[in-house]
Amino acid sequence: MEIMEAKQAFLQAFGANAEDLFTAAGRINVIGEHVDYCGGKVFPAALNLRCNVYGRKTGGDTVKLAFKGIDGVVELNLNALESYRALKIGNYQAGVALEIQKTGVKLVGCELYYDCTVPFGGGLSSSAAIEVATAIALYTYAGAPYDKVEVAKLAQKAENEYAGVNCGIMDQFASAMGKKEHAVLLDCSTLAYEYVPLRLGDYALVVANCNKPHSLVESKYNVRRQEVEIALKTLQEVKNISCLAELSPKDFAEVKHLLSGVIAKRAEHVVMECDRVNKAVEALKAGDIEGLGRLLNESHYSLRDLYEVTGKELDTLSALARKETDCLGSRMIGGGFGGCTISIVKKSAVEGFIRRVGAAYAEAIGYKASFYETSIEDGITVSKL
Ligand code: GLA
Repeated sequence: MEIMEAKQAFLQAFGANAEDLFTAAGRINVIGEHVDYCGGKVFPAALNLRCNVYGRKTGGDTVKLAFKGIDGVVELNLNALESYRALKIGNYQAGVALEIQKTGVKLVGCELYYDCTVPFGGGLSSSAAIEVATAIALYTYAGAPYDKVEVAKLAQKAENEYAGVNCGIMDQFASAMGKKEHAVLLDCSTLAYEYVPLRLGDYALVVANCNKPHSLVESKYNVRRQEVEIALKTLQEVKNISCLAELSPKDFAEVKHLLSGVIAKRAEHVVMECDRVNKAVEALKAGDIEGLGRLLNESHYSLRDLYEVTGKELDTLSALARKETDCLGSRMIGGGFGGCTISIVKKSAVEGFIRRVGAAYAEAIGYKASFYETSIEDGITVSKL
């Protein structure tokens, strides 16, 4: 049904039929937050919430974009891709196209219709999903082969250089490389990765969006990156390291006194979070879901107290979850300041959990949280219509 509607909308926008469907995933991150740009390991998984791009090759020099719920068509001239940075809609696409062009691929005009089911600004990486799905469409119509890991790297570059967000590789990697029913244990310093079955037994992962209005989310993401850079530079004077993730908790305890104030707190979060990722993967592999839940809680506390990227909405939502007897752990995911939490909840208790946490959250914050029905799926899909 959704596909039928999208095909109809494509026809209406462009006067021709869509021929292909490219999709890339939004993601959760089980654990390993704000460590990807410090060379740490992360543990994301691709979702059923996705950026769906319906496409048709037209030839020529124009990429035409249309979007579900938005009137009109945005046109990108392939010879002027530098000029779309200020676009509110279409800038990610232009950034990705520009990066592909820089690799020497000759892009070809096409029409693309976007139906993105990843909530925007929800901490589930809608931007990465848009970038990755767009890249796949553009490569396909250019008749150029692509490697999914390279696509993730290129999409990250587009976000860094075109959209101005100095993000790490986690989101784009998960969006491109995710695997059904698995989380991806990704070492962000080498891009070595391992798929680990996300088997939670009688438990489910519940994804909740705190719905903090986007206009109020004051993201200090780039500031955090600068703070950990300062920590790294200082510690490199005494330690032979290339990234903070190389420090064990014991190493860090020896040199922590060289850092002060927020810089010390930020570095401590990174080191301890990297340690938690290893422990979480061990717990999951051993079927110790309670242990995993405790680590999720610790991750949240560290993001709240040391990294300071949570805020009252995410703190309230995760604290309410933790109060539930059938919840083993809960934490914010993604960049923070707004967006989503994940909670490990007994399958049989999910309905009541959503009802009670939802009501208490609305009471405390003044507006509702959203709860999503999620499943873990493949990253990229490509199909003929
Ligand atoms: C955002 C960024 C990622 C990562 C997370 C925090 O989602 O895009 O690269 O840094 O925040 O873990």
